[in-house]
Amino acid sequence: MTWTNETVRTYQEQVRHWTPGELLRWAWETWGDGLTLASSFGLEDVALIDMAARVFQPVDVFCLDTDLLFPETYRLMETLVQRYPIRLRRVRPRLTLEEQAAQEGPELWRRDPDRCCGLRKVEPLGRALAGYAAWVTGIRREQAPTRAHAEPLEWDARHNLVKLNPLAYWTTDAVWAYVRAEAVPYNPLHDRGYPSIGCWPCTRAVAPGEDPRAGRWSGFDKTECGIHGGPAR
Ligand code: ADX
Ligand code: SF4
Repeated sequence: MTWTNETVRTYQEQVRHWTPGELLRWAWETWGDGLTLASSFGLEDVALIDMAARVFQPVDVFCLDTDLLFPETYRLMETLVQRYPIRLRRVRPRLTLEEQAAQEGPELWRRDPDRCCGLRKVEPLGRALAGYAAWVTGIRREQAPTRAHAEPLEWDARHNLVKLNPLAYWTTDAVWAYVRAEAVPYNPLHDRGYPSIGCWPCTRAVAPGEDPRAGRWSGFDKTECGIHGGPAR
């Protein structure tokens, strides 16, 4: 069957109350090797890798490796590759950091983070998804107003494929409970005031009580990198 916006809508209601495991099983039976999981190795992503590996193996995982992830994130990536049956694709930007500095000027993220995300995340995402029928992400409604309407099953009109957000309705506490109960390795930065982790130049720790995403692109009027909509250049 060819999936479109319309077919997604007919299934949306039915799958809304499935557990992430049930959704992932159905996705694997539906798309098999056409299914890929997007991971920056945040809390949701490690939970999803654990959940997916219980249902099918190997799990095709891609990371948009901007060359600017935290050392802790790169180490966690290695730990997960050892621990889980995942086939990891590290998708790199077309420009190295040196080439970007030569072409755009140094530290583009300080001057024009939308353009930097466009070059280092959004364009590579198109390549990461090419040839796939469906992608899984760790997006949750609670994370941000821009995500308040996220559904476990969506149509990604920008990339023309199905998008699955198995944790869409989960709370932060529920994700933590799962990660702890199953002893899933997670990024140690989470215990140091970093609830949401991206590239090191654009992520800071947040104070207790502060919005969990306040540490992302702090000081800029920017809340999304563009891979889930929002700015893309
Ligand atoms: S972001 O858009 O602000 O960076 P966030 O960090 O909340 O997104 O992550 C939301 C989901 O987007 C993750 O659970 C993951 O599925 C996907 N994602 C974010 N960054 C990356 C990345 N660098 N590589 C692959 N997937 C990513
Ligand atoms: Fe560049 Fe910051 Fe976007 Fe990373 S998060 S790609 S450093 S602007």
